[in-house]
Amino acid sequence: MPSHILVVDDDQFNLKLVTETLKRDGHQTTAVDSGVKALEVVQDIQPDLVILDVMMPEMDGYEVCRRMRKMSDVNRIPIVMLTAQDSLEEKVRGFEAGADDYMTKPFEPVELQARVKVWLRRALAVEKETGEVVGKTISVFSLRGGVGVSSMAVNLAVGFAGLWQKPSVLVDLALVSGHCALMLNTPLKNTWADLATIPTEEITADVIDEVLLSHPNGVRVLAAPRHPEDAELLDEEKIIHVLDILQANYHYLVLDLPHNFTPPSLAGLDASHTIMLLMSPELASVRGVSATLDVFTSLGYYRDRVRLVLNWVFERRGLAQKDIEKVLRDNIDLVIPFASETFVSSINLGRPPVIDDPKAPIGALFEDLAFFLSKDEHRKKKPESPTEAWERVIKRYRARRK
Ligand SMILES: Nc1ncnc2c1ncn2[C@@H]1O[C@H](COP(=O)(O)OP(=O)(O)O)[C@@H](O)[C@H]1O
Ligand SMILES: [Mg+2]
Repeated sequence: MPSHILVVDDDQFNLKLVTETLKRDGHQTTAVDSGVKALEVVQDIQPDLVILDVMMPEMDGYEVCRRMRKMSDVNRIPIVMLTAQDSLEEKVRGFEAGADDYMTKPFEPVELQARVKVWLRRALAVEKETGEVVGKTISVFSLRGGVGVSSMAVNLAVGFAGLWQKPSVLVDLALVSGHCALMLNTPLKNTWADLATIPTEEITADVIDEVLLSHPNGVRVLAAPRHPEDAELLDEEKIIHVLDILQANYHYLVLDLPHNFTPPSLAGLDASHTIMLLMSPELASVRGVSATLDVFTSLGYYRDRVRLVLNWVFERRGLAQKDIEKVLRDNIDLVIPFASETFVSSINLGRPPVIDDPKAPIGALFEDLAFFLSKDEHRKKKPESPTEAWERVIKRYRARRK
């Protein structure tokens, strides 16, 4: 089967040698001459295999490998490192960085062809065995509270469930003080605390399914513990494990993150395909966003994974969008208008706007946003039995284009 292989090497001669060899076997190739470029293109091209040189200026192969392992939608792609001959140390470092295999330079073209066959076959076998859906994961984040993080998370999760009628889950990672379940008026039968007492290796999809709350709209909720002290029983490893399982079993995950960079927050950010970074039109909030973007850069998150959202949580006298953009030296991707009454009813009655009144501007905005953030495979073709939510989104879309 022809496959798409990403080849990364700063040496032009080597780059050509590898790609020409692969092309002879009918593989499609993308060649880039730096690690930075590889990171830029890998999510777009979704290769079946990455062949990665170790010694490169600017960013070496280990670092590229580590960063790819942190990108949620490419972290399963096999990575093969090209190391200098017989350097055990290099091989070990490669595996530590998350490489699947290595090949020493110089190599014979036939050896490369044979090995590529094996790597691709192995990758295919893994895919079949796990038979996973890849849960599109959206996190909502802000370093400051009160800017509408939970409101957006709840509305998006409800939006996904309503649009596609596919397994969707809202994960409250604000473990100490989260109130997602309350915002959906869902009785707190079970919470994260129920998972705290179970050893991580015993937590399976079935176990998690029993802990998830069910909302009439179809969305499931993993609620924050009732007692803040229970949050401390949940270590990072367990949270990552639970997120992994959810991603393999649910089509959409929306993460309501706490307003900090503690382990639950970092685990959630790492697992996300898209991060909605919220701010209100106040200087402190904008500064928080600026600081957050710096942290994201140091975590290796690319800007294209982040959506900057300005939420008018108050009515007047906020900073103008263009001034905020000047401070951030970046563009706001989405503005949510002030919508006091709808939001207050949402909190008090446990009915988010997307459910309460999806035709009102704010409900429609979140429903459209959920559609826009949906998987390509869902968005790009008409569902067999379209939901009312889908019909509404399409109707609005057509009206806007007229
Ligand atoms: N666009 C908006 N217009 C009016 N009120 C809003 C808006 N977005 C959020 N709110 C209100 O702001 C408050 C804080 O929202 P919440 O989602 O709990 O924020 P966070 O999770 O960031 O602390 C809530 O009372 C919510 O109803
Ligand atoms: Mg909140």
